[in-house]
Parts: sequence; C-alpha cells; structure tokens
Amino acid sequence: MKGVVFVEFLEMVEAEFSPEMADDIIDACDLPSGGAYTSVGTYSHREMVALVGALSERTGTPAPDLIRAFGEFLFERFHVHHAEFFDGINNSLDFLERIEDVIHVQVRKLYPNAELPRFEIDRPDQDHLSMLYRSDRHMGDLAEGLIRQCIAHYGTPISIQRHDLDDKGGHVRFELSRT
Ligand code: HEM
Repeated sequence: MKGVVFVEFLEMVEAEFSPEMADDIIDACDLPSGGAYTSVGTYSHREMVALVGALSERTGTPAPDLIRAFGEFLFERFHVHHAEFFDGINNSLDFLERIEDVIHVQVRKLYPNAELPRFEIDRPDQDHLSMLYRSDRHMGDLAEGLIRQCIAHYGTPISIQRHDLDDKGGHVRFELSRT
C-alpha cells in the first residue's frame, strides 16, 4: 500500500484525536517501517490493519467504523490533491463510474507500485450504478467510506445498498440509486 495512504491516515488521527494518539499507536504496533512513511514509499497493508486495530483498542470505536471514516476523510484529500480528476464531473455517479477505467488508471501512472482494487462497473441508466469491488487487501469498508463521501461531496441524494459477498470485506457489491 502506498505511503500516501498511511500519511493521510496519520493526518486523520492527529486531527480527529491528537498527535499523541498518532505517536502512541505507531509505538504500540512495532511496525516494520517504524511508522516513518513517505508518500511514494510502499508498505505492507498489514501495517494499516495494525494501526487501525491499535486505534480501535484505544478509542473503543470498532475498526470498520474507523476505516469507513478514514475513507470519507481520504476522499476529500484526494479532492484537494487530485482536483484534475474532478474536472467536468457534476455528479457522484458520473465520478464513481470512472473509478476503474479512468481514475485508478491515472493513479497507477502517478504511483507505479500502487496495489489497487478491481471494480466491475455497471451503469444501466443515469440513476443507477453497480460497483463490484474485489481486493486481496479486503478494504471494502474503505471503499464504502470513499463512496459515501463522494455522494456527500456532490450533494445529490443517492441510496447505497451494500452486499458482502465474502466475510472479509474483500468482495463487495455496492448498488447506488438516485433517490
Ligand atoms: C481522486 C480520486 C482517487 C484517487 C486519487 C485514488 C487513489 C488511490 C491510491 C493512491 C490508492 C492506494 C494504492 C496503494 O495502496 O498502493 C487507492 C486505493 C484504493 N482506492 Fe482509490 N483513489 C480515488 C478514488 C477512489 C474512490 C472514489 C474509491 C471508491 C470507490 C476508491 C477505492 C479505493 C480502495 C478501496 C483502495 C484500497 C486498496 C484496495 O482496496 O485494495 N478510490 N486509491
């Protein structure tokens, strides 16, 4: 997993909890990287799982809730740092429809070692979008947070139905409908 994701996660912990909390979970996890992440570095996604687990223990918030909240935070960071992906897109379904064939394709050029999920996208009409997420890193909760914040960002009410197709968050279908 790219360091940019870890850097943003620790930013969220500092902002939502405290800088001491960020130091504390890094110390608690005995990470191979030592917690010194650079944006372009690559680190095991297990370090993210460990950091989220340590944060969950200390805050009492379930890990899936923390990962979803991180997805929401991360979406707005992507908006700040990659405004070009938002050019000319006026609604969330049009944005999300482009995740696999446009956005993550560009991400791979920017971060050559990025370990990206696969999304199978189906857009039967303007008001509906189906996103089938698959990843060996089991980040379905992160995907949900990103999707939710994309919808909030554009403001048009969209309902989300989540169907877990395994019990690890590695295979999830999201059905989105304009309400
Ligand atoms: C401007 C928009 C976006 C940018 C720049 C972006 C970029 C990235 C980057 C850099 C990573 C990390 C790759 C790695 O760890 O090696 C990533 C992972 C990921 N992205 Fe995106 N992304 C964007 C939007 C989205 C959206 C809207 C979704 C949800 C539908 C999404 C779903 C994910 C997920 C779930 C991962 C974690 C890796 C995994 O599940 O295997 N991304 N993305």
